[in-house]
Parts: sequence; C-alpha cells; structure tokens
Amino acid sequence: MCGIVGYCGVKNTSEILLGGLRRLEYRGYDSSGIAVSGENSIIVVRRVGKLNNLTEAVAESSLATDNKASFGIGHTRWATHGEVSEENSHPHTDCTGKIAVVHNGIIENFSGLKDRLIANGHKFKSQTDSEVIAHLLEEAWNGDLNAAIHAVLPMLRGTYGIIAMHADAPGVLVGARCGSPLVLGIGDNEMFLASDPGALTRHAKKVVYLDDGEIVSITADGFNITDGKNRDIKKTADNIEFRNDDFEKGDFPHFMLKEIFEQPESIKRGTTGRLDLAASTGKLGGLNMTEDELRAIRRVVIVGAGTSYFAGCIGANFLESMAGVPARAELASEICYKNIIVEPDSMYFVVSQSGETADTLIALRELKRKGARVLGICNAVGSTIARETDGGVYIHSGPEIAVASTKAFTSQITAFAIFAAIMARLREMTSVQGDAFIKAFSAIPALIKETLELDSTIAKLAEKYCNYPNFIFLGRGICLPVAREGALKLKEISYIHAEGIGAGELKHGTISLISEAMPSMFLVPNDGLREKNISSMKEVKARKGRVIAICTAGDTEARDIADDVIEVPETLPILAPFLMIIPLQLFAYHSALKLGRDVDQPRNLAKSVTVE
Ligand code: G6P
Repeated sequence: MCGIVGYCGVKNTSEILLGGLRRLEYRGYDSSGIAVSGENSIIVVRRVGKLNNLTEAVAESSLATDNKASFGIGHTRWATHGEVSEENSHPHTDCTGKIAVVHNGIIENFSGLKDRLIANGHKFKSQTDSEVIAHLLEEAWNGDLNAAIHAVLPMLRGTYGIIAMHADAPGVLVGARCGSPLVLGIGDNEMFLASDPGALTRHAKKVVYLDDGEIVSITADGFNITDGKNRDIKKTADNIEFRNDDFEKGDFPHFMLKEIFEQPESIKRGTTGRLDLAASTGKLGGLNMTEDELRAIRRVVIVGAGTSYFAGCIGANFLESMAGVPARAELASEICYKNIIVEPDSMYFVVSQSGETADTLIALRELKRKGARVLGICNAVGSTIARETDGGVYIHSGPEIAVASTKAFTSQITAFAIFAAIMARLREMTSVQGDAFIKAFSAIPALIKETLELDSTIAKLAEKYCNYPNFIFLGRGICLPVAREGALKLKEISYIHAEGIGAGELKHGTISLISEAMPSMFLVPNDGLREKNISSMKEVKARKGRVIAICTAGDTEARDIADDVIEVPETLPILAPFLMIIPLQLFAYHSALKLGRDVDQPRNLAKSVTVE
C-alpha cells in the first residue's frame, strides 16, 4: 500500500515522478503528491483523488513552465492514519518547509513522538503518522541528510519505506527500508528509488533490491548503501525483467480485461521448461529440493491472502487428489497469530502475487522462526517474500496491474498443478496417468482461449443480472474455492454482495435466502459430484431461485434446469478450475462495467496490502 518514488538526474523531474507514480498507482489511489527541488526551496504539489488530478495540478502549476528541478520525490496513498485529504497526502514537510518526506508503512510509536515534537514547538499540518519523520529530520539536521536519517531511524518503531530530501542538500535523496519494499534503480547519470521495479522500467537499466535495515543515499551519478551503524554494504545489481508493454492496456479498455485475455499466454509462460514429457512429470528447479527430500514430505501447508489463498485451496486439493499428500490452505492473516505446529516432515508454501502482502510476510517469518522450510509461489521477481523464502516458483504471469487478480490466479494454480504432478509421480501415480495428466494440462491454454470466446455472451448475462444486489456462488470439491474466488471478484469490482459456499452447505442455512431476488451461480463440471450439484440446483429452482449454471459443453440436464447456462469445454475434472474461473472473471468484469464502476481501481482497495 502506498507507492513511493524518488529521482535524481537531469530529466524533467516532475514528469519522471508522475510516470513512476502511474506505475505504482495500483498500490493505493486515494491521493498523491510530489515534492521537487526549487531554488533553495522545495515545491510541493498534492491532490486528493486519482493521479490524473495531480497530473492536472502539476500542469497548471509553476512547474509546467519553470521546472529546473534536479531531484524530487512522489507518493500515491492508501490512507491508514487520517482521512483522505490534501493535508494528509504526502510528501510531508517539516516546519521550515525545506525537508520533504514520503513514507509507506506505519509508524507505530508516532503518537509519543508527535507529542514530544509538539512540546518542542513543532507545528503539525496533518493527522498522519508519517509527518513525524519530517520533523524528526528537522531536529537531526546538521547539514548532512544521510547523517540525519541515521539519527532518526532508531527512534521509529513500525514499518517503513522512506525517501527524504532537503532543499539545502541539493541533488541528494536518502531512502530507508524496514518492512516496506524499496528498490534502487540505476540509469545513465540518473538514479531512482521506488517501491517496486515496475516504476523504473522506462528509465533504469539495473535494479538493486534493498533489504530491511538498509539505508541508501543517491545522487544522479552514484549511490551508497549502509546498514544502521553506517557500515558500507555492497550489493549486486539485477537486470530489470519487465517489458514496457506490460504496463500498457494496448487495445483493451481496462487492464483487467487485458489480463483476463492474457491467460492462455501467461499459463504457457509458467509451464515453459517445466513439463517433462519423457518422464510424464513436472520440473521445478527453484524448489531447491532433491527427489528424496520431496518423497519424505508427509504434509503440505499453503498460506496466502485473498485470491492467493483460494489458489492455495486448489493447490491443496491437487496435492491430496493427485499425490495422496495431506495438504491444506491457511489464511495468512490467521496463521500468523496461531500457535503453528511446525513438523519436520511438513512443507510450507506462501503464495503471493505481489510478494509484499504484510499478512503473508508475517506468516512466512513466523513459520521460519519455528524451523519450517518455506517455499514461495510469487509473481513479482525480487519481492520480499520471494527473497525471504527458502526457494520456490516464479509464476511468470508478468506484471498484474488491475487490482482484481485474474491471470496471477491461474498462473498460481498452474505452479501447484506442476508441483502436484511431481509429488504424485514420486509416489503412486503411474507413467500412464502422469502422461494423461500432462497432456490434458498442456491443452489448458487452448481451452481457455476457446472459453474466452464466450465474452460477449457473458457480457449479456451480466447486463441481465447486474442489478441484483446479492449473489450466491456455489461449487463442490475442487470447484468450491473457484466459487469463492468468483464471489470475491464480483464483490471487489462491482460492489455487489456475493457469497461463495459449498453447494452441499446450501441446505444448512443459506437456502433460507433463496427467492426470486437471489441469483445462484452454480459451478457444475462433469465430475463425480455433478449429480449432487444438479440436485442442489433443483432445490434452488423449487424455491423460485434464479440459477445460472457454468457447466461442461453438452450438459443438457443442467441446461434444462438453469435459467441461464454458460458451457465451457470439457477437460479432466481436476483441471476444471482453469476453465470454470474464466466466465466468473468475465462476469465480474462486465457487471462492474455495466454498473459504471472503476474496474481497475475499485474503491477502498489496493493491489498490494503491505499493512496488517
Ligand atoms: C489484496 C488484493 C487481492 C489479493 C490479495 C493478496 O487484498 O486486493 O486482490 O488477492 O491482496 O495479494 P498477493 O499479492 O499476496 O497475492
């Protein structure tokens, strides 16, 4: 949450900062601001609302005509302390107006610090926790910004990614990281700081991922990284992996639709080099585990939040059904406060698209503290979770910009399907079964492409149903987490209330909600539970409920019962989630569109939730 960016160089500083913020807007979008160097001063422009408001304000400010800035900082906010207002937007300044700070994270002891600073005569302009950093820097200032930040950091408790500047330290920015991501971008005679490398791809050539406790100071032509005791730290620079197209919508009206349609390709990317046709199994080099170690695993626990949690539920089902390995998924926000029993023959996965979700990161650290071997399933290369795990799998779905996760979900379950195939082939699965699985799995991208052709049909369905205020999504077995993910998608972007439940649970309470006013979306793949799903659909129809069935092509029985039907191609029952989720993603997208919602940036949400 919150994106921060900093720039030192000769290009148009405000344009570079606004461009970086555009790439970081997914981290929070309730307000934004920049601070750039003026003549012995700092010019701050901040606005409430989407980044366009700030862009317009900058275009109307003195910066449009007279911009000699050579260093500056920017911020896009997801409010934690204090309402959404211009005063609470970052950058925050000290009493002299010469120091400006952007901060991502939460300063837990800000209230005590603020009281002390007020007693010392400081005047606060916002209700934020972050403003204390500007005033603390003011007190510590003795002409050296690096020394000032070193003096201030030990006073802060909580999490932060910080960038600070001082009008009297021309061409210098300092940054510090503790629990919130910060990367350094290296360009030609220009340097950058940002919450994630996506903000830097246009200009930087290389990137250095900072670790917690590190402090960086940059100028246009150099950087210096130290620890809290001011000892130099040498770090290696990595190449930036993204393409600029990843950050453009291309011919699509929204990132979400683009990302839904990218799924045949993103899944293929996640399987490239990872299917061993000769041995009818999968290959995942990043696990850093031998076959003997994998054979010794007796239990798998998968941890994630939101969509990543539902992908974990499907992953657990793959492992139990295919490999006979007991597996379960846990919510990151719950497991981190439980007494987790870590057993030596258990294996732990943390799943996270962004690799920065605070709940998942806390769970990871807690698991490691208790001696667990924890592997990551991440999309963002170099993210904190990817770096702190003992190995894992990059899903390679490419940057996901829309807040509602789509392609990352199918890529996460792709990684689990490959892992389950490996585990199964090291146990009871025969080569014939392995071969059948790999062949069916390899056909999934083409079947998704076929399913995507239902787009206009689903748009009509959304038009018919989008004014219903409530929805129930129902599935059984491996499709229960798909139903829950479908409900989450609808809630997130259309603001229609939706509940995802096990179809077998309907009779245990939820059936009392059924009436003409309550549509039910049933997932009815052609598996061993199909008849039970058909019975549940009949129970709903008997109570005048409206039924939409997502079923396998040619299921005439489902078609006869349901009010509306979406037919997806046939695949192995275990692979049904890959196809069942596509209509649900499209249904959420088109419902939100019809209701005039902000599809890519829904209210109150952020893509990467780096606070608890
Ligand atoms: C936020 C997003 C969700 C996402 C969840 C987990 O809540 O709004 O879309 O599923 O975080 O994110 P992660 O990056 O850990 O997969």
